[in-house]
Amino acid sequence: MKIFITGASGQLGRELLNTCPITSKNSIIKALTSNELDITQRQMTIFEIDGFRPDVIINCAAYTAVDKAESEPDRALEVNAIGPENLAVAAAKINARLIHISTDFVFDGKKSFPYEPQDSTNPLSIYGQTKLEGEKIVLKTIPERSVVIRTSWLYSAYGHNFVKTMLRLIAERPVIAVVADQIGSPTWANGLAKAVWSFVLKPELTGIYHWSDAGVASWYDLAHAILEEARLLGILNTHTEITPIKTSEYPTAAKRPSFSVLDTTSARKALGIKASHWRVELRKMLKELPSKKH
Ligand SMILES: NC(=O)c1ccc[n+]([C@@H]2O[C@H](COP(=O)([O-])OP(=O)(O)OC[C@H]3O[C@@H](n4cnc5c(N)ncnc54)[C@H](OP(=O)(O)O)[C@@H]3O)[C@@H](O)[C@H]2O)c1
Repeated sequence: MKIFITGASGQLGRELLNTCPITSKNSIIKALTSNELDITQRQMTIFEIDGFRPDVIINCAAYTAVDKAESEPDRALEVNAIGPENLAVAAAKINARLIHISTDFVFDGKKSFPYEPQDSTNPLSIYGQTKLEGEKIVLKTIPERSVVIRTSWLYSAYGHNFVKTMLRLIAERPVIAVVADQIGSPTWANGLAKAVWSFVLKPELTGIYHWSDAGVASWYDLAHAILEEARLLGILNTHTEITPIKTSEYPTAAKRPSFSVLDTTSARKALGIKASHWRVELRKMLKELPSKKH
C-alpha cells in the first residue's frame, strides 16, 4: 500500500509518522512538509500525486491560526478549501482515497449535548467557514472515496498548542487566568493519528466521522489538569494559581463555539476502538514530552 501525507511537519503529520502500523515491505509512505509541497498549487499537487500514485492520501495540511485567519481570509480559504480540492482532484485521477481532517469549529456551539456528524453546521469564524468549505469540496469531488474526520482541541509534543503554552505560562507566572465557559474535548494528536491509520485500513468507510478523546472539559479544567499532572510527573514544581474567567474577559479576533463536544460513536463503532479519557491521554503525552524534540 502507498500512502501520501501532506502537512507532514504539523502535529498530526508527525504523530502519523510516529504511529504508522503498516510494516509490510510493499508499503511506502511519502510524507511532504509545506516546504516540499504547497497544496494550494494545483499543478504541483497533481504532479506529485500522479508521480507517486498512492492508494491513500492523508491531508494534514491546514491553515490553523484561528485568530489570524480573521485578517487573512483569502489565504485561509486557499489552504483549507482550495488545497483540499486540489488533493481531491488529484485523488480522483488515480482512484486514490482521500482522508481529510476537519474541526469542531464548523459548529456554532448552541447545542448542549455532543454534536453528531450529520448535525447542522454554522461556523462562527473564518477558520471554521474555510474548513467547512474544504469538507464540502472533498465530499463532492470524490464522495465514494473520501473520509472527513472532524476533531477538537488537538495538542501534542510538537508545534504550538494549549498544553505547551500552559506549561510555559505555569512555569513563568504566579497567577494565570483561563477561559472557563468554552467546553470541548481535548485530544492528543497521537490518538487521533492511530484512529486515522484505522480509517486507512478500512477502505469501505466514506463520509463524515467525529474523533476526539472521551470526556469533556473547559480550557480552565484542562489548564488545571496540566498543572496537576505536570507536578505529579515532576515536570513542574511551581504553585501557580489558575483562575477561571469568561470568554468576554479574554477577547480574541475569532469567535469560538462555547460548546463543541463531538459525538464519536459512529467512528468508534466503525473502527472497533474504545474511548480513552482525555486526562489519561494527557498524562501519556506529558510522560513522553521530555523524550520528544519540540
Ligand atoms: N490544532 C487544533 O486544535 C485542531 C482542532 C481541530 C481540528 N484541527 C484540524 O486537524 C488537522 C491537523 O491539525 P494540526 O494541529 O496538526 O495542524 P498544524 O500543527 O498547524 O499543522 C498543519 C500543517 O500544515 C502545513 N501547511 C500549511 N499550509 C500549507 C500548504 N499550503 N501546503 C502544505 N502544507 C501546509 C503547516 O506547515 P507550516 O507550519 O510550514 O505552515 C503545518 O505543518 C487540521 O486539519 C486542523 O484544521 C486542529
